[in-house]
Amino acid sequence: MTCANKLDNRLSIEKSAAGRRGLFCKNPLRSQAAIPAGLRRKTAPRLPELAEFDVVRHYTRLSQLNFSVDTHFYPLGSCTMKYNPRFNEEAAGLEGFAALHPLAHDACAQGTLELIHDLSARLTGLCGMDAITLQPAAGAHSEFTGLLTAKAYFWDRGEKERNEIVVPDSAHGTNPATASMMGFNTVNIASEPDGRLNVEELKKHLGPKTAVLMLTIPNTVGIFESNIEAIAKAVHEAGALLYMDGANFNALIGMVKPGDLGVDLMHLNFHKTFSTPHGGGGPGAGAIACRRHLAPFLPVPMVKKEGPGYVTDFGDGRSVGKVKAFFGNTGVLVKAYAYMLAHSAAEFGEIAECAILNANYVAAKLKDLYPSYSKEYCMHECVLTPGHDLTDKGLKTLDVAKGLLDRGFHAPTIYFPLIVHEAIMVEPTETESKETLDEFVAAMRDIHSQGLADPQALKDAPVTQPVKRLDEVQAARQPNLRW
Ligand SMILES: Cc1ncc(COP(=O)(O)O)c(C=O)c1O
Repeated sequence: MTCANKLDNRLSIEKSAAGRRGLFCKNPLRSQAAIPAGLRRKTAPRLPELAEFDVVRHYTRLSQLNFSVDTHFYPLGSCTMKYNPRFNEEAAGLEGFAALHPLAHDACAQGTLELIHDLSARLTGLCGMDAITLQPAAGAHSEFTGLLTAKAYFWDRGEKERNEIVVPDSAHGTNPATASMMGFNTVNIASEPDGRLNVEELKKHLGPKTAVLMLTIPNTVGIFESNIEAIAKAVHEAGALLYMDGANFNALIGMVKPGDLGVDLMHLNFHKTFSTPHGGGGPGAGAIACRRHLAPFLPVPMVKKEGPGYVTDFGDGRSVGKVKAFFGNTGVLVKAYAYMLAHSAAEFGEIAECAILNANYVAAKLKDLYPSYSKEYCMHECVLTPGHDLTDKGLKTLDVAKGLLDRGFHAPTIYFPLIVHEAIMVEPTETESKETLDEFVAAMRDIHSQGLADPQALKDAPVTQPVKRLDEVQAARQPNLRW
């Protein structure tokens, strides 16, 4: 390796050299005098002094350190890092969408209103629901919107005493978090070992105080809730609502309509099913779809067809109001719409089939070395565990995950779901090819061989990454949160 190619881990401030500049402004737009004396800095800001070239290199190099789905396989279970087609970006960049002023009058926003109307209709059709809001900015924000809607429904019926949300321990963590944030009492139920809900156990927790059962389908173990009809019946007999965390809808799309299963309201994560970016790094989108009885309580405005055009509709006064400015992150909705238009109805079923096939392929190819937690076929994600031969050598899931980094793969989700000891949650997604899955399988098998031959080497992984193995105990006890 030549000196010039050596990985330079210094921060930009450490590369600073006094007086070095990228650009000299001869006539600064604002002179010091224009700033009131009281607001002027007493000392010069401590900024790195670098040539433009150094800055470009620094940030380009940092961007290359990014691990992304555009560069590598990213089997992060529960997060669904599927490929986001470039076609979506092009659609969202069309001037008519991108340059539309958010306060534009309905008459000037017909294209966007039509898109929202049509996207809503297609989504309610896929979910077997009657109404939908596309305002939420993410999955968790959708949960918030869903529970807000449910609360408004019960209050409208004079059932204010319904203040309990039942959540199984196999639920996604955002479910109980949202319930608590909304001021509900969270009632936790232990699920069966496969993550399914035991209907008799559920009945013991339902009553006049129950507002909602929140159920993640497929659950976090990647298994379909096959008792769903009996569950829905029990929930409805208790006068409560059945909420489906539909973030994992990429496992069901085109094959199952949650409305047919007795679900009253559900959320969708656009980044998981409809190939948009996850909101964590920028604008995201989610949705709450519901049955007719909940529709009046959804956020407003809605988009309604009136005559040949589309208008915004503020409902009959029972809405929970707004949960996001305007219509939510419409740029993300355009991307989801582009993805929908790129697939026929039959192809939606294929999306789910391929997501399920890929997860089961990985599970089957690794079952001799990394036994699946579940003994049955999984849906879109499989939950593996390190075999006894690895754990007998003192190796853990964390070591396997770190070993993957050295082999060019992002680590799967680990230690989640909480009900699985040493969980390795792999979600290959439907967009990966067999070749990529085979490379991943080979890497996992290689890690296993290394673990048996030289356990310490695996405990030291990663050795090829800019950041090596962290001292997790020290990081937890003495977190260093600033540079
Ligand atoms: C099952 C499930 N529910 C809820 C969420 C929360 O969604 P978000 O991260 O968009 O808030 C996720 C995350 O992707 C999820 O996998």
